[in-house]
Amino acid sequence: MKRVVLVGFMGCGKSTLGKKLANRLNIPFIDSDAEIEQYYKKSIGDIFSEYGESHFREIEKSFIKTLKNKSEFVLATGGGMPCFGENMSLLNEIGTSFYLQRSPKELVNRLMNAKKKRPLLEGLTDEELTSFVETKLSMREEYYRKATFILDRTEQTVDFIQQTIHLLHPLQKN
Ligand code: S3P
Repeated sequence: MKRVVLVGFMGCGKSTLGKKLANRLNIPFIDSDAEIEQYYKKSIGDIFSEYGESHFREIEKSFIKTLKNKSEFVLATGGGMPCFGENMSLLNEIGTSFYLQRSPKELVNRLMNAKKKRPLLEGLTDEELTSFVETKLSMREEYYRKATFILDRTEQTVDFIQQTIHLLHPLQKN
């Protein structure tokens, strides 16, 4: 039973790597934001503006519980998901978690052009984005670091994660 959970800050590359990994392992890819948007038929931005962030966090928590019935997947979590309540423990119960660690500087560069679809970043100047990322990351890092594996930039590859999973489940084919 392969359940892989990718955690990390907005813009660290969870979805891109997650899709490739799911493809390689031949198991479903799940993007928590996309699933929530599909279920509520609203964008994450609209959920934030209509119901508020705390409601979104409740939705995320309920979403994690729905994964208990699924046997195999690669999950790309929303950047804040692991950092509320017991979510990181719940994620560790359902799968093998990997923290895609990136420096604040790298994250800021990656997020510069991707502020639009992320409600927490909307309207921030580049300077505000920098201080937002530094502050938020330092608050969230303790949760992300509860992941089973912490991967630096060079380890954030399909091959590396596949090999790690293979060590955990040596008898499985992929
Ligand atoms: C959030 C990250 C987003 C999304 C929402 C809130 C956060 O997901 O869940 O905008 O609090 O960090 P990504 O990490 O995929 O951008």
